[in-house]
Amino acid sequence: IKFFEMVKKKTCVFISGKGSNLRSLIKFSRNYNFPISVNLIVTNNRNAKGLNYAKINSIPYLIIDVKKRNYELKILNALKKNKISLICLAGFMKILSKKFISEFRKKIINIHPSLLPKFKGLNTYERILKKKEKRSGCTVHYIDEKLDNGKIILQKFFFIQDRYGINELKEKTQNLEYKSFSEALIKIYRYTNF
Ligand code: GRF
Repeated sequence: IKFFEMVKKKTCVFISGKGSNLRSLIKFSRNYNFPISVNLIVTNNRNAKGLNYAKINSIPYLIIDVKKRNYELKILNALKKNKISLICLAGFMKILSKKFISEFRKKIINIHPSLLPKFKGLNTYERILKKKEKRSGCTVHYIDEKLDNGKIILQKFFFIQDRYGINELKEKTQNLEYKSFSEALIKIYRYTNF
């Protein structure tokens, strides 16, 4: 009997910090029927804790210096070299240029810790608590030229309890993010050709 063997999409994950979404994606990608493999990691922060996941899993990584003018070219070269066809932004704190985004149209997805279009941008948790929102959650979406604006792939929510401070809200949101990112990848694998 010959089983169908999935050809995993070679994916690059962009990070700037802790990398817990990266860790989760690597874990999911080990499953034989998960649609992606993590083949490259890019960061703008050489001290990003998440780089450890590249090291312990022997995944190639690239540290870019955003003060240098040609850093996007360096990224593009590394993507090409590693035959990357999908980019996941997971806590990447640098805005990509329009030119870069247009070269990877519909191939860059991001995760944001709110129910977009609400609370685009930074300091999301603070603003959600200040507004006394009843619900929050996370959104996986495609990247387009405007910040936190592209087409939504998947959203999950929970109810905010009165006792929640920033830490509780963050923990609850991030646990939901891990599930959401993986489900979003399965969804786009099924319903689009990536
Ligand atoms: C995530 O919570 C995501 O919503 C936001 O940045 C955070 C990154 O966390 N875009 P981590 O580095 O994956 O732990």
